[in-house]
Amino acid sequence: MSFELPQDLKARLCGLASIGVITGAGISAESGIPTYRGKGGIYDDPEQGDRTIEALSAPTLRMDPDRAWQAIAKIAGAAHGAKPNAAHYALVEIERKASRFFLLTQNVDGFHAQAGSRNLIDIHGDTFKLLCMQCGWRGELGRVAGHEPCIQTIVATGKAPLCRCGGTIRPDVVFFGEMLPMAKVLRLHAEFYDNPPEAVISVGTSSMFPYIVEPVLLAAQRGKLTIEINPEETEISAHVDFHLKAKAGEALTAIAHAL
Ligand code: OAD
Repeated sequence: MSFELPQDLKARLCGLASIGVITGAGISAESGIPTYRGKGGIYDDPEQGDRTIEALSAPTLRMDPDRAWQAIAKIAGAAHGAKPNAAHYALVEIERKASRFFLLTQNVDGFHAQAGSRNLIDIHGDTFKLLCMQCGWRGELGRVAGHEPCIQTIVATGKAPLCRCGGTIRPDVVFFGEMLPMAKVLRLHAEFYDNPPEAVISVGTSSMFPYIVEPVLLAAQRGKLTIEINPEETEISAHVDFHLKAKAGEALTAIAHAL
């Protein structure tokens, strides 16, 4: 049986013109990608524990890039071979129906772009996009051996890939201790703050960061429609109009139909 939205939510969704969406790791859970927190999450590693966060930090990337890449390879390796799911495609449908739509994601798996979302702010970057820390070369992380730098080679060797110039290559993602990319922060502000949408939907995130929480709280304060999709309670649950304790795929598909 398909997921049923509350009647009063259906009524408010009908005819909405502008929608802002925020996503986190939970939206990719149905693709088989582990979330960060919670049981079975990337940080729930009995061998590494909190050391995973340390491995994904700016100082580790600088001082011990092999270790940073071993942690990144786990994240990229999970996304490699997996595919966007119904939730990613429902957002593409929502973008098609709305006259103004934008999507802020914390995910680095590249699934929103792969599914076809267009007005996308990937605030933490994309793990398959690469950058040389020395010469500024930019490229893609190869998915098959021979197309170096390649995910399989990094997993097998545990070594950070090197550029032709001899510099270390990094993924174009935000490590702990690094600034968010300014251009993306400005876009986020323009979309959520300067010209707020009629509705903000937060999906599959534990809402740990201020720039993820604030757009929802601001929308609630301004009387806009606010929805959270998450089987668990988070910091924003008490502040939204509707907390749908559902999986991202079923809830977003129902919302796409109701618009
Ligand atoms: P988390 O792992 O912190 O949270 C995932 C959320 O998804 C949890 O609240 C789950 O309850 C929820 N969830 C799980 N399965 C779901 C499903 N099928 N449908 C809907 N929700 C589901 O992931 P994020 O909030 O994305 O940053 O984490 C935020 C950031 O913390 C990440 O981008 C990463 C991490 O450190 C950096 O690496 C900079």
